Amino acid sequence: MRILVTGGAGFIGANFVKYMLNKYPDYKIINLDILTYAGNLDNLIEVENNPNYKFIRGDITNKSLINNILEDKNIEVIINFAAESHVDRSIEDAEVFITTNVLGTQVLLSAAKMHNIQRFVQISTDEVYGSLGTEGYFTETTPLAPSSPYSASKTGADLLIMAFYHTHNFPGIITRCSNNYGHYQFPEKLIPLMILNALEDKPLPVYGDGLNIRDWIYVEDHCRGIDAVLHKGKEGEVYNFGGNSEKTNIDTVKIILRLLDKPESLISFVKDRPGHDRRYAIDFSKAEKELEWKPKYSFEEGIKMTIDWYLDNSKWISRVKTKEYLDYYEKMYKDR
Ligand code: NAD
Ligand code: DAU
Repeated sequence: MRILVTGGAGFIGANFVKYMLNKYPDYKIINLDILTYAGNLDNLIEVENNPNYKFIRGDITNKSLINNILEDKNIEVIINFAAESHVDRSIEDAEVFITTNVLGTQVLLSAAKMHNIQRFVQISTDEVYGSLGTEGYFTETTPLAPSSPYSASKTGADLLIMAFYHTHNFPGIITRCSNNYGHYQFPEKLIPLMILNALEDKPLPVYGDGLNIRDWIYVEDHCRGIDAVLHKGKEGEVYNFGGNSEKTNIDTVKIILRLLDKPESLISFVKDRPGHDRRYAIDFSKAEKELEWKPKYSFEEGIKMTIDWYLDNSKWISRVKTKEYLDYYEKMYKDR
């Protein structure tokens, strides 16, 4: 199979590229990534000389580039991870979220349609469903009700996929997963940010009352889910993935502190995120039934592996902490 992976230098994309090259030695993977602040070729060092792997630096909104790649590389399948992915950044400035996440998806879809691509997997998110109260779970038929500019842009992309499916019989499939964690995650997201701050004995900024709930999934479990969708998913369908690991943010932070043997006095409650979704929780029974998928790792196992990885990869950490990151941190957290 010849697969175009977009956004493969980011956190989940890089994990997925390696997972696939390892599992399917006869598949070819072309990784198209523009390398924003979140794209990092260090995540792919082990595979850069793999003859089945090729990296192309470029933008998913660039029509002629996409058409050339689909044609020159005889691409059969597209898996679209490329996105602006951080909610807090979308609150500061929504524009690039619309350009990349909505327009970029449309450019890929139109090119894929023209080149008769066999399958298009859109990596969406549970955030398109909005927020849950204390009860219930997101199913694939939960109404779309995004709260942030980020989730609104991902919803826009999902609607385009479904519109292409209904209008053109386009072979699109959508995955909606909960919060991922694991190695190579950029330290703007909760878990790596807390690990890195704790290692430096810096305050751990918990938004609001710390009682917002996220359902954490180890990134490898998400990769297995996408693999299952690629091979067994039905066109025009949506598949939810979750980790069966609902946790309040404050509990997640306390677990990290305990495993690092650091004091809870590092916790600092700060101003809440505007429009902060209260709770995400996933019903993944459809994936269980139709794809024979369920998460393999408990949070306790996954978080230990994740912390060990950050402890063992200080070089990766120091390269990620660029001036851009330090400026971002200063700007986002100074008035909280
Ligand atoms: P990430 O921010 O780590 O990586 C995104 C990647 O996309 C980066 O490598 C970046 O350089 C690339 N990119 C951005 N704009 C691009 C463009 N215009 N052209 C080409 N490449 C571009 O994100 P992630 O956490 O790995 O998320 C990957 C996908 O999974 C996203 O679509 C996100 O919405 C979705 N998702 C993420 C999570 C999560 O918990 N992180 C959960 C569910 C779904
Ligand atoms: O649910 C899937 C989504 O998960 C993905 O679609 C997004 O791309 C991904 O970024 C993630 O979104 P969240 O906003 O849930 O993740 P984040 O790591 O930013 O925050 C997790 C929770 O922790 C959230 O309730 C906000 C809180 N938080 C976050 C940060 C960065 C804090 O309390 N302090 C922080 O410094």
